[in-house]
Amino acid sequence: MASKILFIGGTGYIGKFIVEASAKAGHPTFVLVRESTLSNPAKSAVIDNFKNLGVNFLVGDLFDHESLVKAIKQVDVVISTVGHAQLIEQDRIIAAIKEAGNVKRFFPSEFGNDVDRVNAVEPARSAFATKANIRRAIEAEGIPYTYVSSNFFSGYFLVSFNQPGATAPPRDKVVILGDGNPKAVFNKEDDIATYTIKAVDDPRTLNKILYIKPPANTISFNDLVSLWEKKIGKTLERIYVPEEQLLKNIQEASVPLNVVLSIGHSVFVKGDHTNFEIEPSFGVEASELYPDVKYTTVDEYLNQFVLLHGDLFDHESLVVKAKRQVDVVISDINRSLLGDQVKIIDAIKEAGNVKPGATAALRDKVVILGDGNPKAVFNAEDDIATYLSEQWMIQEPRTRSSTLSPHSTSFHSTIVSLWLKKMGKPLKRIHVQEEQLLKDIHRMNIISLALYGDQTNFEIEPSFGVNASELYPDVKCTTVDEYLNQFV
Ligand SMILES: NC(=O)c1ccc[n+]([C@@H]2O[C@H](COP(=O)([O-])OP(=O)(O)OC[C@H]3O[C@@H](n4cnc5c(N)ncnc54)[C@H](OP(=O)(O)O)[C@@H]3O)[C@@H](O)[C@H]2O)c1
Repeated sequence: MASKILFIGGTGYIGKFIVEASAKAGHPTFVLVRESTLSNPAKSAVIDNFKNLGVNFLVGDLFDHESLVKAIKQVDVVISTVGHAQLIEQDRIIAAIKEAGNVKRFFPSEFGNDVDRVNAVEPARSAFATKANIRRAIEAEGIPYTYVSSNFFSGYFLVSFNQPGATAPPRDKVVILGDGNPKAVFNKEDDIATYTIKAVDDPRTLNKILYIKPPANTISFNDLVSLWEKKIGKTLERIYVPEEQLLKNIQEASVPLNVVLSIGHSVFVKGDHTNFEIEPSFGVEASELYPDVKYTTVDEYLNQFVLLHGDLFDHESLVVKAKRQVDVVISDINRSLLGDQVKIIDAIKEAGNVKPGATAALRDKVVILGDGNPKAVFNAEDDIATYLSEQWMIQEPRTRSSTLSPHSTSFHSTIVSLWLKKMGKPLKRIHVQEEQLLKDIHRMNIISLALYGDQTNFEIEPSFGVNASELYPDVKCTTVDEYLNQFV
């Protein structure tokens, strides 16, 4: 019978993929969750998915020894996918596994470089050392283990091409660390999950490092860029950063850029994904062990960023080549491009042939930050442009040295009601209280979330500002009400 698996950190970025793979493979699957996670709206989609998959929730905490022991006693295998901040605390899991005494296999939170075979500089060096120390503690306690060295997550590194802050592959130029020749490995998260779960009951992976290093995903940065150039039909400017310069940049950068750069140094300059042989004494390779798994290749992965022979960032290709040939558009775009779906909406409007209801908007539930009462301001981009050109054309003296504020104000609390009326369907409202939101912002390192209110909680004084819609009453700006009509 398939082993019972407990996940610690199962609701995290990589954890949720592996939990899903576990449940789908028929393993009785348990996830240790904190109370706060179960009631966190940001986690509700993951939790709902787990419920649908029949996952069992065990309330507990990495810092609550009793809860760990109790949970571990119910399973055969423990998989930790805790995040960077909790890596060092995994000695608590080791202690609980020792006390429980029933665990057949432990997978500590690894899912990256083989930390025993790296040539990293700080701060990556310390992060890798933390994982290596956990390995040594597991071995010292005689706990059976598998260390999954999955190399790079495609969702992180193929989406951005390792360009700090990028949310899509590059279109004009690309910065390459080193000379671009060492090979790196990029794996799709679902495949990492599949291989990890296959290893759980496999004696060949017992007390071994499971390397996920499929041949088609092992590629140098130079070849990766060439592959991408072929797909988009365009040559990128390649900017090479010599190692000496990179080391200086790392020293001068602050967190998290220095972490990203130092991992890049280890992989792209030192070649730490591929500069050693996997010896049978310590490791096995996943695509060799499980040739039946049809993994997503780097080549295939990049296709999601290119539509037919056009792409998301080429309006003409969307309208002419793609949309006019179809009746319905389904967007299955990568999470990092979600915001860019407005480009699809624009193209659908212009193409004019897509059936109503085929675009996605909020139709089931909506998350509201705070109580939803402060007013915010939403302006159509064309109106902002019109107001600005009025100001420039007339060389408007009234706007010199002052803030121009277009003002098609709407009430945030009533936006949802307005949308409900248009849609003719109830929408579940999930309110995130300020305290929880501040916690989420801190924890998720998101800097763009702000409580609504700051756009309207002050008066525009003539000494510093003027209101565009008052200055130019002749401009017929699009109201929020009118704007929403395009989605119905
Ligand atoms: N190779 C790559 O490209 C790559 C990229 C990123 C990460 N990684 C590696 O992947 C592993 C997992 O990282 P991640 O980014 O997926 O992690 P993550 O998203 O930060 O998730 C951390 C998980 O730990 C849970 N957690 C935190 N504190 C806890 C506590 N006190 N008790 C119980 N659970 C707790 C979190 O619960 P909540 O859901 O409630 O927050 C969450 O489920 C790490 O080893 C990391 O180094 C590799």
